[in-house]
Amino acid sequence: MKPTLKIFTSLLAVIAAALLLVPADPAAAPNRGSRLTGVHGEPGLLPKSCRACHKGMSMAIRGEEEVCLTCHGTEGDRQQMISAGLLRAGGIRGTMKDIGAELRKPYSHPVLTVRGVHRGSEILPEDRPNVPRHAECVDCHSPHDLTREEPFRGFAGKRVGSFVTHITEEYELCYRCHAESANRPARSSNKHALFKTTNPSFHPVEGEGANAYVISLRDPYKARKTRPGEISTISCSDCHGSDDPGGARGPHGSRFRGLLKRNYEMETGRPESDYAYALCYGCHSRGSILGNESFPYHALHIQGRPGVRDSGTSCHTCHDAHGSTRYQHLIRFNEDVVRPNAAGQLKFDSRGVASRHGSCSLNCHGVEHDQKSY
Ligand code: HEC
Ligand code: HEC
Ligand code: HEC
Ligand code: HEC
Ligand code: HEC
Ligand code: HEC
Ligand code: HEC
Repeated sequence: MKPTLKIFTSLLAVIAAALLLVPADPAAAPNRGSRLTGVHGEPGLLPKSCRACHKGMSMAIRGEEEVCLTCHGTEGDRQQMISAGLLRAGGIRGTMKDIGAELRKPYSHPVLTVRGVHRGSEILPEDRPNVPRHAECVDCHSPHDLTREEPFRGFAGKRVGSFVTHITEEYELCYRCHAESANRPARSSNKHALFKTTNPSFHPVEGEGANAYVISLRDPYKARKTRPGEISTISCSDCHGSDDPGGARGPHGSRFRGLLKRNYEMETGRPESDYAYALCYGCHSRGSILGNESFPYHALHIQGRPGVRDSGTSCHTCHDAHGSTRYQHLIRFNEDVVRPNAAGQLKFDSRGVASRHGSCSLNCHGVEHDQKSY
């Protein structure tokens, strides 16, 4: 081999390793085999290694949550693990959060409630429509592989040719169950389809948004990142997660509907307030929205007609919080409320993303819009 070629091939190997490319064979699937890398492999934390989770050294383990909650549950349970010499308190960075408490909140992933469905050998997204839905800790965290920096390390992600990459982005993890899955519930949308950066509009999860001028954004959020400290992309867990700002990171559970971090009224006819649409107002200025800086009829629709009780409507009536495969500005009419007009039309037309002009054809609570423009 010529020296230049040799350097080239070893460079390729380094790049491949850096991209974390792994061969697409079943042995590379998460949780297979007995290699323990990552944070759970640190002897300064789990001095008895495998035995902390595989009780009695039996490798047969079902992937249910109890084993995780011995250390990631209550302080009392954790103390027992420390007394048994299975967990060393000195190595822990910061405080360990009670994930069980999050999961017992009214809106949560069904970790505690669904049993015996997860299989160590399963491949997600599920391709059989009749398989019951589930989510265990090990579906989102691979216990042998995860690190503090990469809590999703160890799951197979995109297929690139004959290689499978490792998941690094949170949304890729969520797509294992909320995108192409054949057993997705009927009223649940395909999140991958909604967040595609080729859509007319989408919240900027996979990449920066379609609209370069979003006037309502509050600091540090910007449509385009031009300076350090500015934020132009967001993640699922910016909206989905614990209602407690000091609680565990991640979408385990919340007291707010939709497993949301902040309150969000989705019904029509609720009075507008800072609290009613707290989720959106966290990033979009309430003053800008109700000041009609973008859509001139925002205040009229959101607060309702002056003097007419319960005539205001939710953002959810017109916007999808994820994305829109049809329209700009995240427009997606909630068809539980909005109907076709007398001419049978239900549509939104925009005159260009920055024009702030468009028109609507629909019927809402008896009010007809026939290409009503703004
Ligand atoms: C932090 C907890 C934890 C530690 C530490 C741990 N494991 Fe595991 N291991 C699990 C869980 C949970 C599963 C099941 C994963 C699933 O079902 O998806 C598993 C699965 C396995 C399997 C596959 C079993 C099967 O039925 O497919 C083997 C083999 C295994 N572990 C060996 C080991 C060995 C060897 C060690 C020590 C070097 C170790 N594990 C350390 C939690 C752990
Ligand atoms: C014997 C105790 C023990 C068990 C059992 C255990 N863990 Fe851990 N885990 C730890 C410790 C200690 C850390 C590091 C915490 C720290 O330093 O803040 C950790 C870290 C983590 C992290 C990264 C958290 C972070 O700080 O970003 C995740 C995720 C995690 N564990 C999930 C699991 C899952 C899932 C299971 C069950 C399969 C499990 N753990 C079982 C002790 C345990
Ligand atoms: C292993 C599968 C799995 C993965 C991975 C997963 N989920 Fe879920 N998720 C579920 C199941 C099952 C439900 C219950 C409803 C259903 O079947 O869709 C659910 C429900 C939800 C809900 C609705 C909760 C409610 O009470 O209304 C939200 C929001 C959610 N998931 C967000 C996420 C996010 C964000 C991620 C990625 C960080 C994610 N999920 C990853 C399986 C999964
Ligand atoms: C800007 C905030 C925001 C972001 C970012 C966001 N969501 Fe949501 N999500 C919502 C709101 C609001 C609802 C409730 C209204 C609805 O169902 O559309 C919701 C509902 C859901 C539901 C329950 C309804 C259903 O269709 O099953 C799931 C699952 C979900 N989101 C998953 C995700 C995933 C996965 C991501 C990231 C890839 C994500 N969300 C990003 C705000 C957000
Ligand atoms: C975590 C911050 C965050 C939250 C929470 C959030 N947004 Fe956004 N939103 C953004 C960012 C950043 C953009 C800019 C995207 C772009 O440049 O197109 C944006 C853009 C938008 C757009 C304009 C999209 C376009 O293409 O014109 C609409 C409409 C919107 N958001 C509605 C909502 C609604 C409704 C909620 C509440 C359910 C909400 N947002 C919650 C960060 C957020
Ligand atoms: C009656 C339907 C309707 C309702 C209800 C509604 N919007 Fe809008 N919104 C629109 C339309 C139409 C546009 C596009 C205006 C344009 O052409 O630029 C828009 C644009 C936006 C934008 C992008 C413009 C910008 O620069 O900020 C944001 C953000 C937004 N809406 C947030 C909200 C929030 C938050 C709520 C609830 C508190 C809400 N909207 C309620 C119809 C609605
Ligand atoms: C639907 C997917 C999902 C499920 C199921 C899930 N987690 Fe998580 N978890 C996440 C995400 C996403 C994060 C946030 C990671 C980040 O951004 O740092 C997280 C964070 C964590 C953290 C770090 C919390 C902190 O603030 O220190 C721990 C520990 C953890 N999870 C343990 C568990 C345990 C134990 C279970 C089961 C009892 C579990 N998780 C179930 C998705 C999940």
